[in-house]
Amino acid sequence: ILNMAGASERTFIMIKPDGVQRGVVGDIIRRFEQRGYKLVALKMLQPPKALLESHYEEHKGKKFYEPLLEYIGSGPVVATVWEGVNVITVGRKMLGATDPAKSEPGTIRGDFGIVTGRNIVHGSDSESAAKREIGLWFRPEEVSDWKHTAEKWIY
Ligand code: PPS
Repeated sequence: ILNMAGASERTFIMIKPDGVQRGVVGDIIRRFEQRGYKLVALKMLQPPKALLESHYEEHKGKKFYEPLLEYIGSGPVVATVWEGVNVITVGRKMLGATDPAKSEPGTIRGDFGIVTGRNIVHGSDSESAAKREIGLWFRPEEVSDWKHTAEKWIY
């Protein structure tokens, strides 16, 4: 879809177990909605180990890999897909730096996080990662293609 601002795209944003435990699910969703992005998929789940192994496959063998899988696997997590212009890049900006100690205040991690091992959210870092991750976490029919309409829904 093209408009004056450019092509619309989709990204995968996951609220990690600490985000759920800290009660900031609503805040994170609100930030994306207020920014103007469209929520097109959402579910809470206890992520199966095989799914996490696929999701984090590029990090297999790194020293943080096992603790990372244990942390995310402690679930539940809230998996979401967001749609809009530049949502991959802007979404990552809204999350803040991977290490919350380096995240600016005003970002999600800069406001809620302290250490990398508990950094509240995940966001796809590229177009190819977004496509791959959305496909891993959601069946096609779970991602809604809904459109904004001019109708009023509050009377
Ligand atoms: S790398 O090696 O530069 O690609 O790694 P990086 O992009 O910094 O991080 C990759 C993902 O691993 C998570 N991570 C960690 N989790 C737990 N503990 C430690 N020490 C740790 N270090 C990195 C990091 O948050 C990234 O996961 P996502 O889900 O993308 O945030």
